[in-house]
Amino acid sequence: MNDLVRITADNDVAVITIDNPPVNALSPGVPERISAAIDQMNGDSAIKAAVVIGGGRTFVAGADIKEFGKMTSGASPRRSLLPLLLHIEDSGKPVVMAIHGNAFGGGLELAMAGHYRIASSTAQVGQPEVKLGIIPGAGGTQRLPRLVGVLKAVEMCAEGKPVSAREAATLGLIDRLIEGDLLAGAVSFAREIAGKPAPKTRERTEKLGTATENPAIFGAARDAAGKKQRGMKAPLAAIDAVEAATRLSFEEGCQAEAKLFTECLFSDQSKALIHIFFGEREVAKIPDVPKETPVLPVNRVAVVGSGTMGGGIAMVFANAGIPVLLKDVDEATLELGIGKIRKNYASSVQRGRFTQAFMDERLQLITPVLTYDDFSTVDMVVEAVFEGMELKRAVFADLDRVCRRGAILASNTSTLNIDEIAGATSRPEAVIGTHFFSPANVMRLLEIVRGKKSSKEVIATCMQLSKKLGKIGVLVGNCRGFVGNRMFGPYRREAQFLIEEGADVERVDQALVEFGNAMGPLATGDLAGLDVGWRIRKEYRHLEKTGIRQPFGEDRLCELGRYGQKTLKGWYRYDENRRASADPEVTTLLRKWSADAGIPQRQISDAEIVDRCVYALVNEGARILEEGYALRAVDIDIIYINGYGFPAYRGGPMWHADTVGLQRVYERICEFHQQHGELWAPAPLLQRLAEAGKTFAEFDKAQVMAAYGPNLQEAAPATEGSLRI
Ligand code: 3HC
Repeated sequence: MNDLVRITADNDVAVITIDNPPVNALSPGVPERISAAIDQMNGDSAIKAAVVIGGGRTFVAGADIKEFGKMTSGASPRRSLLPLLLHIEDSGKPVVMAIHGNAFGGGLELAMAGHYRIASSTAQVGQPEVKLGIIPGAGGTQRLPRLVGVLKAVEMCAEGKPVSAREAATLGLIDRLIEGDLLAGAVSFAREIAGKPAPKTRERTEKLGTATENPAIFGAARDAAGKKQRGMKAPLAAIDAVEAATRLSFEEGCQAEAKLFTECLFSDQSKALIHIFFGEREVAKIPDVPKETPVLPVNRVAVVGSGTMGGGIAMVFANAGIPVLLKDVDEATLELGIGKIRKNYASSVQRGRFTQAFMDERLQLITPVLTYDDFSTVDMVVEAVFEGMELKRAVFADLDRVCRRGAILASNTSTLNIDEIAGATSRPEAVIGTHFFSPANVMRLLEIVRGKKSSKEVIATCMQLSKKLGKIGVLVGNCRGFVGNRMFGPYRREAQFLIEEGADVERVDQALVEFGNAMGPLATGDLAGLDVGWRIRKEYRHLEKTGIRQPFGEDRLCELGRYGQKTLKGWYRYDENRRASADPEVTTLLRKWSADAGIPQRQISDAEIVDRCVYALVNEGARILEEGYALRAVDIDIIYINGYGFPAYRGGPMWHADTVGLQRVYERICEFHQQHGELWAPAPLLQRLAEAGKTFAEFDKAQVMAAYGPNLQEAAPATEGSLRI
């Protein structure tokens, strides 16, 4: 037997160790070897029971996701797993599953086929398959309700959230929690139960509910999935599969599960979500910043500016247990900022997300200050003052004076030139952009902006820190708007053009929400504050080319004091609870402004709204990619899903374009180019890929193999451990 699975004996108990690093995925060969080990232990008369345990950091993280892309209909991870699980359940001698780390997906399905499960108290178990656009496919939807009941099984399979071993123990999924040595605990547990009748999960029915209580559970779960996972097919399929468990025999239920599983596995949604799963791990890999790059300590930080962004960023650090100095210019502003933080925490406590004790501890970590006196003690500063170059440069000159050498000086600017900001200091190598997204304490994305001179240590530290802060860090180059906002410009420009050409504000937003976006582009503008972009546009007006069509709606609304939600008027009007409604005044104004500008009005379809807005993203994304301001197309996808509410099940704008077909996307962009002029000139990279019949995914692979973006400084070929594709 090879090393993937080892069998040893602790006197009368066989220990079967799964050893397939890094996460013991059930790759080809693993199920077969576990099955052989079960046979071996059953054939050994000196053995009374077996313990199955994971080697290394975890039990089993599930089926091998890398294999999914290679599968054709007919082949699936079920093929090898289902017989193994029946084989374990039918074993003549009891099998105890010993769980540490995670038992996820096929890992939990494996555990449920054991006669008993014991776990380290820190372990987690779950059926996260829906996050990959699939459902549990090895009997998970049939065995889980038999162990934890229908309500919890539906929740776990449809939402994909893991549960702690402690909760699992109260649910009946774990038979015993072990505080100390898991293997020793498992072996002694195995001796306790050896010789007694071993329960088979698939034969249990007592928790499968009744025909009177179950329909309400499934109805509520479908409603919740329709709202919380809008547009996703897998959660509904998972609910159907669990429902089958309550109506059919175990065998028939497994067949129903198989059908649903296969439909999901070969869907575009699943391909997109698997792309995102690997993409989230890929973005951490920077060609010339290998994982051995030394990182700097970040144990104490300061945030300059206590406005919405600054306050949110202070909360992010406090939530990760890092003490923060929060500075502002006067007592009143600081008091306001702290008040907002307090209110934010209080609402989380009210919603049951945090306890009061957690809120009190986090608030203790935030120290409001009016001076730079203690800044010499911090390892990192994040500047979050108003978006204006002169102000930012003045702050950085101050930071250069007061911070110790070695401290990281980061700016939360969303558009301004990091090198120009760094130029105000005597240490540009310590300067970097950390662009948080609003609300900073909620949004997962952190764009890390590499300046010309940002040091590799500073980059590596910020990438690592993003994980500690619960964020997903994506390294981007220093161009106007970086990656996310640079693409958002053309996207929102098209939304405004469509309105100027005759579409209604709500129609434009609704079409994009139906496409799957969390919010429409105009409602997003109102939420973020229309004045933010207005101020930036004023700063850059001198750079605008003359003779190019510019949208006028938003600037004119700002001139009328309509800044969005904060003034209760923007593209929409808002009541005191910030509930939006269409504003006829805006419609009248827009029609008048369009007539004054001589723009012909016409009927615009939802399909055109989506194509114009989404392909504007794709075209700009292709330019960014070719110019080297993003390392890979998948980096752009991760940015859009985590920072801009793009539907994950479409895989991000670049993956979506691949799915539609680059040829089709390119042709549509050419049509827009003809109709609307220069702003729609197709990106050369898009044209080349479309003409060659290639995809952005293929571009990524080739890019990784060859050279890296010229604007991500000092690009170098991948070294061992820095990039693995
Ligand atoms: N298959 C293949 N590779 C996997 C994997 C899996 N199930 N799970 C993780 N990996 C890989 C990652 O891609 C990563 O590779 P890299 O180092 O080359 O980038 C490496 O293992 C380490 O993973 P993480 O960086 O995510 O490590 P963490 O310690 O942060 O997290 C984890 C570990 C919580 C297990 C996390 O990796 C995870 O959630 N994995 C996916 C779990 C999952 O979705 N399981 C269901 C699979 S589908 C299934 O089982 C179908 C069945 O019902 C038939």
